[in-house]
Amino acid sequence: MKITVLSLFPEILKGFFESSLMAKAAERGLMSYELVNIRDYATDRHHKCDDEVFGGGAGMLMLPGPLGAALAAAGVPARDAEDSTASASAPAPAARPKRCVFVTPSGRLFNQAMAEEFALEEELVLVCGRYEGVDQRVIDRYVSDEVSIGDYVLSSGEVAALVLVDAIYRLVPGVISGESLHEESFSAGAAAAGPDGERGPYRPALLEYPQFTRPAIYDNLRVPEVLTSGHHANIARWRLRESLKKTLAYRPELLAADGLPGEIRKLIREIITEGGDHEPYPEDPGAADEGGSAWL
Ligand code: ADE
Repeated sequence: MKITVLSLFPEILKGFFESSLMAKAAERGLMSYELVNIRDYATDRHHKCDDEVFGGGAGMLMLPGPLGAALAAAGVPARDAEDSTASASAPAPAARPKRCVFVTPSGRLFNQAMAEEFALEEELVLVCGRYEGVDQRVIDRYVSDEVSIGDYVLSSGEVAALVLVDAIYRLVPGVISGESLHEESFSAGAAAAGPDGERGPYRPALLEYPQFTRPAIYDNLRVPEVLTSGHHANIARWRLRESLKKTLAYRPELLAADGLPGEIRKLIREIITEGGDHEPYPEDPGAADEGGSAWL
């Protein structure tokens, strides 16, 4: 897979690409990347890349010219050109057009399923915004996906782009072991397939269970006994239960999917009966009218 990132401040990105696991993946030939400085495509003497907003408003917008030229040079097809030249008899293009992702707070919310989808692309082009945003005409012409990393506004699209890059490249087959991917938060549900495409039994996306390492007693704090018992079935059950507890406490909406396996419904009932620090279960009609829990 190749990831190309277009930015006005590529030096912010460079350290990540050169020092992370990404550098190792690149050495092993699993990944490649290119950082493009949008300013290199500005044609005026001052390499100007921003201007005031038509119609008024605070701040500056990124100019369409330099960014459009950088996108074209990166091989991103103009979507409007595709439409205008398409004819009914024309053969389908052999390669899929490069996916071009603009990171912006007004995009679709990024999640693990999207990371998995992007990791399947041969090549991904990411655009980092700056200032108040980007001229809409470049977005309309080149961008296939607008993605936000969360409901907050960063001053730099570079930080958001790195979040996407980090979540995506580690899913490329061979970068890290399939086993590590399988057990982590959000690795189930829609994303239950391993890197070889093989799916395990259905399990909802859950937050990861707590983990411990040596020493078994640290400052009088003991590792849960089950984890040192060597009893694999009990360890697996403990982990699932802890994942469910944490998910109920922090992200109960993840458990709202239909078709939860009976084993999981039973564990949820047990956890709710025990009480504790969790939100009311979101699809629990009893909780809504305070008439008790439908899970019990
Ligand atoms: N740029 C600024 N804020 C952002 C966000 N929340 N997501 C993606 N890109 C951004």
